[in-house]
Amino acid sequence: MAGKIPQQFIDDILSRTDIVELIDARVTLKKAGKDFQACCPFHGEKTPSFTVSQSKQFYHCFGCGAHGTAIGFLMEYDNLDFVEAIHELADTLSLEVPREDGGTQQRPSTNTKALFSLTGQANDFYQKQLREHPQKDKAVDYLKGRGLSGQIAKRFAIGFCADEWRAIQTALGSDEHLREQLVEVGLLIKKSANDYYDRFRHRIMFPIRDLRGRVIGFGGRVLSDDTPKYLNSPETPLFHKGKELYGFYEACQSNRNLSQVIVVEGYMDVVALAQHGITYAVATLGTATSGEHIERLFRKVDDIVFCFDGDRAGRDAAWRALENALPTLREGRQIRFLFLPDGEDPDTLVRKEGNERFNQRITQANTLSQYLFDHLSTDVDASSIDGRARLAEATKPLLKKLPQGTFQQMMIAELAQRTRIDVNLLSVDISGDTVKQTQINQRQQATITQRGPSLVRKAITVLLHRPNLVTAATDTSWLKDIDQAGIVLLLDLLELLRQQPHLSTGGILEHWRDTEHGRHLAKLAAQPALLESEALAAEWDDALTRLKSAASEAQLERLEERDRLGIANNDEKAELKRRYQELGQRKD
Ligand code: UTP
Ligand code: MN
Repeated sequence: MAGKIPQQFIDDILSRTDIVELIDARVTLKKAGKDFQACCPFHGEKTPSFTVSQSKQFYHCFGCGAHGTAIGFLMEYDNLDFVEAIHELADTLSLEVPREDGGTQQRPSTNTKALFSLTGQANDFYQKQLREHPQKDKAVDYLKGRGLSGQIAKRFAIGFCADEWRAIQTALGSDEHLREQLVEVGLLIKKSANDYYDRFRHRIMFPIRDLRGRVIGFGGRVLSDDTPKYLNSPETPLFHKGKELYGFYEACQSNRNLSQVIVVEGYMDVVALAQHGITYAVATLGTATSGEHIERLFRKVDDIVFCFDGDRAGRDAAWRALENALPTLREGRQIRFLFLPDGEDPDTLVRKEGNERFNQRITQANTLSQYLFDHLSTDVDASSIDGRARLAEATKPLLKKLPQGTFQQMMIAELAQRTRIDVNLLSVDISGDTVKQTQINQRQQATITQRGPSLVRKAITVLLHRPNLVTAATDTSWLKDIDQAGIVLLLDLLELLRQQPHLSTGGILEHWRDTEHGRHLAKLAAQPALLESEALAAEWDDALTRLKSAASEAQLERLEERDRLGIANNDEKAELKRRYQELGQRKD
């Protein structure tokens, strides 16, 4: 495993990248005041509400709320993951991406590019065979027999390989180096020196594509009853079976604002559903649904419906998926479970029942909590104390896997109700917190971004929009006396900017990617900067002055409290006296 990419390097490429240039190369921007605008690439609109700020190195759409840094834009627009986005920016700047352990970097090498080129060419070839090969009729009839139109076959780039042993080498070239590369991507098998043959023969070919549309591997289905029914690419530098999802690229292509996916088991299920207008199905490739699969999906959508056969194997697979999903469930994310009648799969069912009825099934899918409690309650007699205790014991370890937060609290409340055990006891046991404490924590969190503009929030916002104001605040150590929501964030922000006063708004956000701090800051950064620079500076002074008096008041209260309790030391007593004199009061 390569080490982490140093934060310093991320700061560095962000400071050398211009977000306006980067976005303008993909979406034409127009100057509007001191910012740039365009129609938002992330939702359909006729008047531009997508704004890019050069000074902040940040983009924001007032229409759909999309926002982020140069890195975030590449991730969203080019469908890259974080590391790929860093590599993309580094490439533009002709920089190598370093790793913290000084070790190897997983840079997409020229070799990888060559491999992608080969899988792409092979896929073109297989598609061409489906149109032109003398035996193509068998394949075309097979696909038609399964209810697929030419249009859907094209959307999924479905192809055909005939019953031949050397078709790929004949088509793509047979020099030694090339053939070795074809072995590397799993298309050829090497029998002996200089003797290679096609892995895929006499099959319908389903290319598996990554989110950028590049072919990473294939699944091939026999036309007859031969075995194996499906042959998949082996593990290759491009293809990791346990992580990939068939149909995800096509689902994203068909739905600009994809918000839901349905996870099914087979290639044909994905394609048949698309044929019937359900264009947002994806399939794991014959492996269990992993946490990684789920995280990948949640990066794009908030709502995942797992669809399983109603048989024993399907139920086991569903439970595995549930267990792997629990740690990924944050607020706003939803997982549901749909079980099909025994003997059916989505392909057979949608062809039998049609789009409307199938959609109805999706709408009626069980929520995760229904499924979880139903499953665990099956063999439990909830009318007996003993049964309820067993239900609690079986449920607790699962609820512990949930991230702390509202959803976990709701599940705990549900368990409390079903078992008649005190909710606070369960809560302490499961999340290490009482319900009350969690609620207080949540309320404090909420005030940072939701309540009216508190002073702390104002200070954070101003600083985020004009980071170099940090230089105007020399001593802010007194801030730690303030006990208000968000103060930790303000202190951390000040510390960061003292070290790096030249960070842009975008640069700050990248420091706290995927953290609580990052989420709060992103919300604040996405607010329009209400004031011009001059006024921002004045706002900053004002916020600091008022915070200082709040801090001083808080300190006075604490001194008084300690004095009253008789635990003030001499220094504190002297300070208190000084404070009273200052206030023109006398202490008896
Ligand atoms: P199924 O056997 O349920 O496939 O396997 P299916 O999609 O219903 O097949 P059709 O309808 O007969 O064409 C589900 C998935 O398991 C993997 C494939 O990913 C397949 O889509 N699988 C299955 C294999 O990898 N190899 C096999 O031999 C069978
Ligand atoms: Mn099937």
